[in-house]
Amino acid sequence: MRQTAASICTHFSRKAQHYDQHAGLQRAMAWRLARRIAALPMPAGPMADLGAGSGLVGQALQQLAPQHQLLQLDGSAALLQHNPLAGSTTQRLLWDLNEGLPACLQGSALLTSSFGLHWLSRPAAALKQWAKALAPGGWLVVAVPVAGSFAQWHEAASRAEVPCTAWPLPAASELLQSAGSVLALRHHQEMQFSPRYGPGGRAFFRQLQQLGASYSDHPPLRPGQWRQLLNHWPADEQVSWRILMLLAQRPGEQR
Ligand SMILES: C[S@@+](CC[C@H](N)C(=O)[O-])C[C@H]1O[C@@H](n2cnc3c(N)ncnc32)[C@H](O)[C@@H]1O
Repeated sequence: MRQTAASICTHFSRKAQHYDQHAGLQRAMAWRLARRIAALPMPAGPMADLGAGSGLVGQALQQLAPQHQLLQLDGSAALLQHNPLAGSTTQRLLWDLNEGLPACLQGSALLTSSFGLHWLSRPAAALKQWAKALAPGGWLVVAVPVAGSFAQWHEAASRAEVPCTAWPLPAASELLQSAGSVLALRHHQEMQFSPRYGPGGRAFFRQLQQLGASYSDHPPLRPGQWRQLLNHWPADEQVSWRILMLLAQRPGEQR
């Protein structure tokens, strides 16, 4: 695994034990994806959750459509250890998605991913690879945070005149173009969620840390810069996520 991917997955691994406890938004999105997936006519072929982590999507799907078994693929061994669907070696795969997809997923009936794609080095290119790996009639079902998220963080950093260390997120339009070049887009929607995290910004950053999602490729802020940032944090305590949900199908006859 290359350096950045290894560092990202190590961040998640360190917090694996507590991920589920703090993953309210991720769990809500997993249920949305599972409800969509359960209603789809599925061709034959493998199914996988890419960046499955602790298995929130697979667990929701298990309750709605238990016939669908998703390979639990992730770059974090510790998260897979905390994933109840990844008990046997046929159910899990420790894999770096920056290296493309494993051969066993060529001709897939379903590739799904929730809150995982944006951590890859080239999200739009990865999405296209995933699209090309589908069987005719196969489905790509993805939820991913996109550019425009964390506007309050970017604005506070700009007012405080300190760097914004947020992880760069892909543009929704670029992802849609990439998937749409191979697949028929059946549904897409950009949703905004604005949880209140508590006063002063600290609770928001603590939440990212507790999820293991605080990796940044910027140098860390110095203590004085942190103080500046928090002094300029919005009073209403909200931080917005913009999430793209995408359902797309490979054209062609189902086998
Ligand atoms: C925010 S978690 C989402 C987990 C799960 N899909 C969910 O919705 O709760 C992001 C996941 O992506 C995985 N990940 C990040 N970069 C990866 C890579 N290069 N290859 C495989 N998995 C990766 C992390 O290990 C982590 O499990």
